Amino acid sequence: MPKQDRVIVFDTTLRDGEQSPGASLNIDEKKAAARQLAELGVDVIEAGFPVSSPGDFEAVKSIAKDVRGPEICGLARAVKGDIEACWNAVKHSKRPRIHTFIATSDLHIEQKLRMTRQQVLDRAVDSVRFAARLTDNVEFSAEDAVRSDFDYLCQVIESVIDAGARTVNIPDTVGYSIPSEWGDKIRRLVDRVPNIHKAVVSVHCHNDLGLGVANSLAAIQNGARQVECTVNGIGERAGNASLEEIVMALRTRKDLFHLTTGVNTKEIARASRLISKLTGIPVQPNKAVVGANAFAHSSGIHQDGVLKSRTTYEIMNPSDVGVEESALLLTARSGRNGVQNRLKHLGYSLTAPKLEALFAKFKLLADKKKYVFDDDLLTLLDEEGRDASAETYHLDYMSTTSGTGIVPTATVRLRKKDEVLQEASCGDGPVDAAYRAMAKITGLAPELKDYALHSVSSGTDAQGEVVVKVEAQGLVVSGKGTSTDIVEASAKAYLNALNKIVSSRAGGRPAVAKRGM
Ligand code: KIV
Ligand code: ZN
Repeated sequence: MPKQDRVIVFDTTLRDGEQSPGASLNIDEKKAAARQLAELGVDVIEAGFPVSSPGDFEAVKSIAKDVRGPEICGLARAVKGDIEACWNAVKHSKRPRIHTFIATSDLHIEQKLRMTRQQVLDRAVDSVRFAARLTDNVEFSAEDAVRSDFDYLCQVIESVIDAGARTVNIPDTVGYSIPSEWGDKIRRLVDRVPNIHKAVVSVHCHNDLGLGVANSLAAIQNGARQVECTVNGIGERAGNASLEEIVMALRTRKDLFHLTTGVNTKEIARASRLISKLTGIPVQPNKAVVGANAFAHSSGIHQDGVLKSRTTYEIMNPSDVGVEESALLLTARSGRNGVQNRLKHLGYSLTAPKLEALFAKFKLLADKKKYVFDDDLLTLLDEEGRDASAETYHLDYMSTTSGTGIVPTATVRLRKKDEVLQEASCGDGPVDAAYRAMAKITGLAPELKDYALHSVSSGTDAQGEVVVKVEAQGLVVSGKGTSTDIVEASAKAYLNALNKIVSSRAGGRPAVAKRGM
């Protein structure tokens, strides 16, 4: 084998990937995907299996006509009719490739093909010879190579290279191997087949044991220079080796592999999103490289580390795969540094005491909510911005009961300086009961003119924000309150309005609008 430091990326998203249950794509979708694969910089696009259906034939033909850059390849069984159909579809490309295959394991030969080893060998050679008359770019795959007799596999590979195969693909069709064994097999094959230097050795590893990428990398370390893979690792059963994982492993561990690919890694995230959208197959959040959590940090220690130096917890730069930035998810485990950084991102720079006060509120909220979103932070900031010391009454405790066949009641305890004031009341609902209890405590019973509830941020654990408008002796006052509990948000909003009434009566500057002003 000539020493090459470039690994050929053979993308089979549109052929093996499309074999994922429910993933079938129409011509336009396939073309859109192929264009993105070309942007991604893959070397070969296996666009389909032309003989399998008129639709697939047209899709491969159309991609071959329109998509420039990568070689456009079609799959064909080791059957003349398949190879002809394949050629008629791919020949429109400037760089066509025919990929023909036949199984070489005794299991497949006897149970599926019902042939003999000699017949399979002859068929493989005849097919490659036939394809090589159409193009000099012929690939041969020994399906189920993983379970094939090694000596026989080597004999087939040697013979197809003599017949004109320029690429010989050794598939682990059923994802059976483990990396050390697979690497060893590829090394032994490279050492054994005398004419192997005339062809590129390729591998095609399925993921049944979750080892598709590991096996592909082991093969590369042992002489393979083409990898067959799919975007997001989609494909038959548990899928194929994932393109983005292989490419980023080669790049991230260049110190180990000393190999490159032609992939423009910045297009990886876009390609992943497109393939997921077109196939309807979601990407699991913890999927390496392209999962939503691949660059998301949740723990406070990790967030602090990443803010000080990204490389503390990231081995890849998110921008290298087309992800804008690392996400620091604000949760109960986040620290001050994470909160401060998010605030800075939102354009706020707080003094140390203000940050401390906000962080205390953040922790209380984060205990109730899974994630604290930007809107939640802004709401906390808004609450914090209010001059709490100017408020006469503070909500100390509240308990409400309501339900079918129960009279709604509320017990409310307010603090007024050192005084603790408590009342209970019934009402039309828990909110009404709480408002009545507060009216009893404060001696204020303004008329509720308006009540509006909306959710801040998203999710069932989102905070509710309540805005009320009340009127007392010609004075119209609004109040706002937020909480993950909407009854509490309602009580906070009402109390906020009551405090404004008290403050305006005491001659304070009312943050209120007088009717008619
Ligand atoms: O998994 C496999 O063996 C295949 C071949 C057709 C290459 O997909
Ligand atoms: Zn396959």
